[in-house]
Amino acid sequence: MGTASGAVVLETERLLLRLLTTEDLDALAALYADPEIRRYFPDGTRTLEQTRQELNWIIDVYYARYGYGLWATILKETGAFVGRCGLLPWEIEGRTEVEVAYLLERSVWGRGLATEAARAIVDHAFATLPVERLICMLDPGNRASRNVAEKIGMTPLWEDYVDEYGPAHVYAIQRSNRRSGP
Ligand SMILES: CC(C)(COP(=O)(O)OP(=O)(O)OC[C@H]1O[C@@H](n2cnc3c(N)ncnc32)[C@H](O)[C@@H]1OP(=O)(O)O)[C@@H](O)C(=O)NCCC(=O)NCCS
Repeated sequence: MGTASGAVVLETERLLLRLLTTEDLDALAALYADPEIRRYFPDGTRTLEQTRQELNWIIDVYYARYGYGLWATILKETGAFVGRCGLLPWEIEGRTEVEVAYLLERSVWGRGLATEAARAIVDHAFATLPVERLICMLDPGNRASRNVAEKIGMTPLWEDYVDEYGPAHVYAIQRSNRRSGP
C-alpha cells in the first residue's frame, strides 16, 4: 500500500497540514464513521462511499476551483493521519464566506491541537486570500468547537443563522482584528 503524500500546505509546532489525496480515503472514512466525531454534523456519520464522494469533491472542486479546502492533518511526532482541517467556501446571501474547519480523531482531543491548527489556518487564509473575514459555523451544542473558535479570536457574528440543516451560531474573525505577532 502506498503512503499518501500530498504537498504540504502548512506546518505548526506539532502538525503538518498537507493536501489530501485519494490514498487518504480509508483514513478519512474511519474518522467520518465515528458517531462521536460526527455528533454535531447535521448529516451524521458517512459511509466509505459518501467519504469517497466528499474526498473527490475536495480535490476536484475545492482545490482545483478555489485553491483551498480541507487538508490532511498529520501529527509530526508519529506521522499519523489524525484529522482534516482547513478552509471551506460557503455562499451566504450572495457572498462567499470562508469557514475555518477542524475535525480530529478522538485519541488526540484535549491537547490544544485544533487550536494550533486553526490559528495557523487563519494566518494562512489572511495571507493568501482577499477576504475581510473568516467564519466558523457551530452547532449551538458543540462546546469544544466554540472554544476553539473563541481561542483563535472569533466572536459571534450571527446568533440567529438558520440554513437547510437548522440553526447554527456563526462566529467570525475580521482581518483588522487578527492577532499580531507570533
Ligand atoms: C472540535 C475539536 C476539533 C476540538 O479539538 P481539540 O484538539 O480537542 O481542541 P483543543 O484541545 O484545541 O481545545 C480547545 C478548547 O476547547 C476545550 N474543549 C475541548 N473539548 C471540549 C469538550 N468536549 N467540551 C468542552 N470544552 C472542550 C478545551 O478545554 C480547550 O479550551 P481550554 O484551552 O480553555 O481548556 C474536536 O473536539 C473534534 O474533532 N470534534 C469533532 C468534530 C467537530 O465537531 N468539529 C467542529 C465542527 S464545527
